[in-house]
Amino acid sequence: MISELQKLEKNALAELETAETEEQISNIKTKYIGRKGLLTALLRNIAQVPDAEKPVYGKLCNELKERLNDLFDEKLQKHAANRKQNLLLKEKIDVTLPGNAVWCGREHPVVLVRQEICEIFASFGFSVVEGPEVELDYYNFEALNIPKDHPARDMQDTFYISDNVVLRTHTSPVQIRVMEKIAPPLRILSPGKVYRRDSDISHTPMFHQIEGLLVDEGISFGDLKGILTIFLKKFFGENTFLRFRPSFFPFTEPSAEVDIRCVICGGSGCRVCGQSGWLEILGSGMVDPAVFENVGYNAEKYTGFAFGLGLERMAMLKYGISDIRLFFENDIRFIRQF
Ligand code: DAH
Repeated sequence: MISELQKLEKNALAELETAETEEQISNIKTKYIGRKGLLTALLRNIAQVPDAEKPVYGKLCNELKERLNDLFDEKLQKHAANRKQNLLLKEKIDVTLPGNAVWCGREHPVVLVRQEICEIFASFGFSVVEGPEVELDYYNFEALNIPKDHPARDMQDTFYISDNVVLRTHTSPVQIRVMEKIAPPLRILSPGKVYRRDSDISHTPMFHQIEGLLVDEGISFGDLKGILTIFLKKFFGENTFLRFRPSFFPFTEPSAEVDIRCVICGGSGCRVCGQSGWLEILGSGMVDPAVFENVGYNAEKYTGFAFGLGLERMAMLKYGISDIRLFFENDIRFIRQF
């Protein structure tokens, strides 16, 4: 048995001599003195050793194990130290080189404007709801009092998925979807993307709107004027002048467009306001009783007002941006300015 120990030691040393990598050394270590290693197995065989030799045999085994363990570890440590040294020699890091800048995004001006408007209306008790961008003809037109042959459809030509499914041209269909589900009173705001067959300096095929709707008993045009006036003064500043101009929308009666005094020329007339001194900012009106009937509301009992505005336009006027296409070029230098 003792000669077996000597043979094992000789083999282990010979193998260790040829090992070149840390992995190889580790493997040899496991092979000889690991839990299932050769030496461990010999130590377990002590039962077969004559009683008189047991103490000597056990001692020799343990000494050999310790010796080998020290040898393996020593060699492993040498390798690790060499590896580190080589790395230090090879990897010359020039700490004076400029680093790689970490680029950070920014909120888009349209997002900033949307957030600000939602916050102002939240303070008036409005909550935010969203509707689908791919919409049924019924919600986008029909239920808003715009039948198939109505001329109002000309101004809102869009992308048709099929005869009855369109990319919505405005956020107004959300009014219908909400009223179908919720009984009055309600105050909601609905931001989102809308689509039209338009493309020039002031129109893009996709843009953003926010819709507002308030329904309750005894709501009058005075409420509409009051809320929209406070909103626009908060958004554009206390000194904002506005006017309510009679207009037409199929889903409101009466309807009004709201203009603010031109933020560029202060009202004296310029290219931006087409020399009129005024800028059209939103559409609004008292909800047409026919719309209430389409959603099963009692038009005798309830009245309400609605409005819709374009977010790109609001952002252009607030920040003095002259071309709507800048919003969609994805140029971080533009976006970082707001
Ligand atoms: N949906 C209209 C548009 O896109 C804007 C609008 C006008 C919305 C009057 C309204 C409203 O809610 O009452 O041109």
